[in-house]
Amino acid sequence: MNKKLKLAVKNSGLLALNFFKDLPDGNLFIAEARKQVPFDIERVYFINNLANQKAIRGKHAHRQLQQGIFCINGSFVLHLDDGDVKQRILINDPSCGVLLGPMLWHTMSSFSYDCVILVLASAPFDEADYIREYEEFCSLARPNSHPRSQQPERARP
Ligand code: TYD
Repeated sequence: MNKKLKLAVKNSGLLALNFFKDLPDGNLFIAEARKQVPFDIERVYFINNLANQKAIRGKHAHRQLQQGIFCINGSFVLHLDDGDVKQRILINDPSCGVLLGPMLWHTMSSFSYDCVILVLASAPFDEADYIREYEEFCSLARPNSHPRSQQPERARP
């Protein structure tokens, strides 16, 4: 992942963590609320055991929630879609995550066997905050466009 990467989609951005290289005794990475992560962190979750190489996760957007997504081991591909612009990003650097702001359709695929995803979220879990239907997402993100022209990018495993 290129730390100078420009995110073309709305409601996103790179999140650069501070880190100390203590090799060969490990590396230490730090994420602080309202510093490297631009919101108060109310929830943390992680995803491991991504043994199915064809797994596809995500496929939703949030109405309000802000999240920072990191790959703390291995790699995966993050597909972002703001209803207008689509972008795919290889996430493979633990010190550099991506802000998933509101109204950003996101899908994750192409997980390495050792991939571990860490997510920092701005609010407790709330299923009502999810938009799980792509057509609904498009109609909210692009209220004036014709529904038939809206197709999600197919995340290839
Ligand atoms: P989901 O957010 O759809 O996972 P992903 O985007 O990684 O594919 O969540 C999967 C399931 O886990 C869903 O049934 C909701 C549940 N869940 C919680 O109960 N609490 C949480 O904090 C999260 C993130 C998910």
